[in-house]
Amino acid sequence: MTPEHASELTAKVCSLAPVVPVLVVDDARIAADLARALITGGLPALEVTLRTPAALDVIREMATVEGGVVGAGTLLTEADVEAAKEAGATFGVAPGATDRLLDACEANDLPLLPGAATATEAMRLLERGYSTQKFFPAEANGGAPALKAIGAPIPQVRFCPTGGVSLGNARDYLSLPNTLCVGGSWVAPKDKVASGDWDAITALAAEAAALPR
Ligand code: 3PG
Repeated sequence: MTPEHASELTAKVCSLAPVVPVLVVDDARIAADLARALITGGLPALEVTLRTPAALDVIREMATVEGGVVGAGTLLTEADVEAAKEAGATFGVAPGATDRLLDACEANDLPLLPGAATATEAMRLLERGYSTQKFFPAEANGGAPALKAIGAPIPQVRFCPTGGVSLGNARDYLSLPNTLCVGGSWVAPKDKVASGDWDAITALAAEAAALPR
């Protein structure tokens, strides 16, 4: 897959809703319920981070839930890319970008949302053909004002800012012309996931899905 095609596909994923939930899930047995709760609330694009031993099984379970688009986050290596693809992920997300990771995603036909934190990183990715990128870690990098400033000279790159984004600051990003959506974990808080409070998670998802952009 070409980087240009990958960016077209990830831009489509990012346009499904204002927020992509970033999920760290320890138990695959609750994965389908969690996915259903978020999708019901209006957030169909889900990023499952490869940060728990259960993550690949979580992707497998979530991929069976109707109406969802399930991707793998925290892709760091070629092995991660292959495993994510095999588990049923239809897109990938990475905190940054290396040539080896980009090569692996292109070779495995996994559309990647690669991470950039600076103008140079965004330019390097754009040079390779990636016009859809993740701005990470968004708040620590200066937040919406920093992303707005990057957008002035490089308006052709569109971003999904992630890292420290919450209901309180999401609007600041979503009002920028170079922001397609935001990523965040606040819609699936650990305590509510642990207690299986799916109605509360659906309510958080609905609140996020109603954010203007
Ligand atoms: C992460 O690295 O887990 C994501 O960027 C999500 O960050 P958040 O927990 O600050 O939303």
